[in-house]
Amino acid sequence: MKTINERRTIRKYSERDIPNDLLNRLLEQAERTPTMGNLQLYSVVVTRNAQMKAKLSPAHFNQPMVKEAPVVLTFCADFRRTTLWAEARDAHPGYDNFLSFINAATDALLYCQTFCNLAEEEGLGTCFLGTTVYMPQLIIDTLKLPQLVFPVATITLGWPAEQPALSDRLPLKSIVHEEHYEDYTTAKIDEYYSEKEALPENKKFVEMNNTKTLAQIFTDIRYTKKDNEAMSNGLLDALKNQGFLK
Ligand SMILES: Cc1cc2nc3c(=O)[nH]c(=O)nc-3n(C[C@H](O)[C@H](O)[C@H](O)COP(=O)(O)O)c2cc1C
Repeated sequence: MKTINERRTIRKYSERDIPNDLLNRLLEQAERTPTMGNLQLYSVVVTRNAQMKAKLSPAHFNQPMVKEAPVVLTFCADFRRTTLWAEARDAHPGYDNFLSFINAATDALLYCQTFCNLAEEEGLGTCFLGTTVYMPQLIIDTLKLPQLVFPVATITLGWPAEQPALSDRLPLKSIVHEEHYEDYTTAKIDEYYSEKEALPENKKFVEMNNTKTLAQIFTDIRYTKKDNEAMSNGLLDALKNQGFLK
């Protein structure tokens, strides 16, 4: 049993398997998560097969966890099941739109986070892969996701084979606004980010990447405007293909 204060992302896993009973118990317990209208607008695809992991790997920029973790979970926004249910019950669904995608994505992400909390309490390690929405069409094709189903999160899951140092967090006052949003002045930005920028590991990171500032690693190397715009277009195309956008 771990507390939230000790949680960290785990990217290296032991050979030990995750029994189906345990996985299913956690997936079932996570169903207590709140969802829109209690419709549970999500599905999860469990990948254990090595060939399937190899097929998913390029969609996640070949991050090694995808092939190395005993279990890969793809959490999907899913308005299909509800739509089919409605159609079979003389009801007329209207969920082929962007609002419905956001609603289903919200349900799926909440379910995913509850699952992660439960899995970590059990001693399992997780890594959230945001790459899921970078090249979604590849995941859609690999997992055979039909209309009104869209992948929004991937978790690699396994028993930890590492215990990395805890990562830093911004101070509470930098994220909380009392009663209304207080926009950030340059002085406040300096104050809130100074601790992060002063950390030896971040200073080393800047040196290694040959940038002037820590922020430049994010804007110029990791998450660039060019990449974001290109992948944003791919995301919009995939949302159209899956029936969530006209
Ligand atoms: C939206 C999102 C996307 C992420 N994508 C990746 C990823 O593609 N690869 C990875 O190794 N970690 C990924 N992570 C994990 C973060 O790097 C990690 O949570 C963050 O650095 C803080 O570290 P901690 O979780 O150990 O506290 C992602 C996390 C989130 C919430």
